[in-house]
Amino acid sequence: MTISTISKPHERLAEILAGEMEAVNTLIRTRMASEHAPRIPEVTAHLVEAGGKRLRPMLTLAAARLFGYGGDHHIRLAATVEFIHTATLLHDDVVDESAQRRGRPTANLLWDNKSSVLVGDYLFSRSFQLMVETGSLRVLDILANASATIAEGEVLQMTAATDLRTDEAVYLQVVRGKTAALFSAATEVGGVIAGASEEQVRALFSYGDALGIAFQIADDLLDYQGDSKATGKNVGDDFRERKLTLPVIKAVAQATPDERAFWERTIEKGRQQDGDLDLALNLMRKYGTLEETRTDALAWAAKAKTALTALPDHELRDLLGDLADYVVSRLS
Ligand code: IPE
Ligand code: IPE
Ligand code: MG
Ligand code: MG
Repeated sequence: MTISTISKPHERLAEILAGEMEAVNTLIRTRMASEHAPRIPEVTAHLVEAGGKRLRPMLTLAAARLFGYGGDHHIRLAATVEFIHTATLLHDDVVDESAQRRGRPTANLLWDNKSSVLVGDYLFSRSFQLMVETGSLRVLDILANASATIAEGEVLQMTAATDLRTDEAVYLQVVRGKTAALFSAATEVGGVIAGASEEQVRALFSYGDALGIAFQIADDLLDYQGDSKATGKNVGDDFRERKLTLPVIKAVAQATPDERAFWERTIEKGRQQDGDLDLALNLMRKYGTLEETRTDALAWAAKAKTALTALPDHELRDLLGDLADYVVSRLS
């Protein structure tokens, strides 16, 4: 068995795209610096040096390569997408009051909320500068829309997350916004810059959208079932943050009056005590909602793979298919 058949799809993607990813990383390092405000490189280096899977920039590079792109704007777009991602992580960890990210203490914990918010804004602005350099209005349109949609998703989540009336449709809207919008923009702009047809750009959008949804559902499930060493985040954070994610929404929908009172106390009112996380997990197990959530994630991954059939037959297309399997394989 060769190395490339045993490694994970995102690692194989990284292997195939190594040269271009190096250029992306160099560009990220150059543009995350600031001559005038030393706090900026301190915070960005902390987060960027911690790694991250670089999934979104690889999606952009892969999409451009699928259509034989020969220029270098895809490098700028890949860095743009990772900058937007990094900015949203800085902001997200403030909003979620999270303590761990990429296996390290969060920037809001090491520095403060102000630094995370302002450096996040700086990275957003840097991403706009980078995308403008491509000279493509179409690309600007896609990425500007994605940025607005991500913020909208985070704000919707803020108001919907502790409201027990939040159903699966609202959850889907949140996830599409906060996570899938950047995945689909990442794949779309790769195709657009490479001159893909409208039908192919639509297929790239559908793939990114479904992949992003599968990814976030998996992330939400791992919040209850994951190993913090593997995810680099704490187990049970969503419950402590009173966030209604899919496994809980499904349990609330079937709750007895006593169980509903439990969810009202812990999620709506936020009056949590020791042992509540275990009680919540017991209710999710009682109704099999963790398993159902896993089934939903698998269905979105399958949808992502179906969208790929409209794209050119290519080694990278197969890898994108494997990637869809991989984002949900963490759940087995
Ligand atoms: C984390 O995304 C944010 C979510 C959408 C769940 P990733 O898991 O891709 O983060 P990094 O970049 O690899 O750390
Ligand atoms: C991440 O959402 C989505 C964005 C960063 C916009 P979450 O809050 O669910 O992700 P983690 O668990 O902090 O990575
Ligand atoms: Mg978070
Ligand atoms: Mg969040």
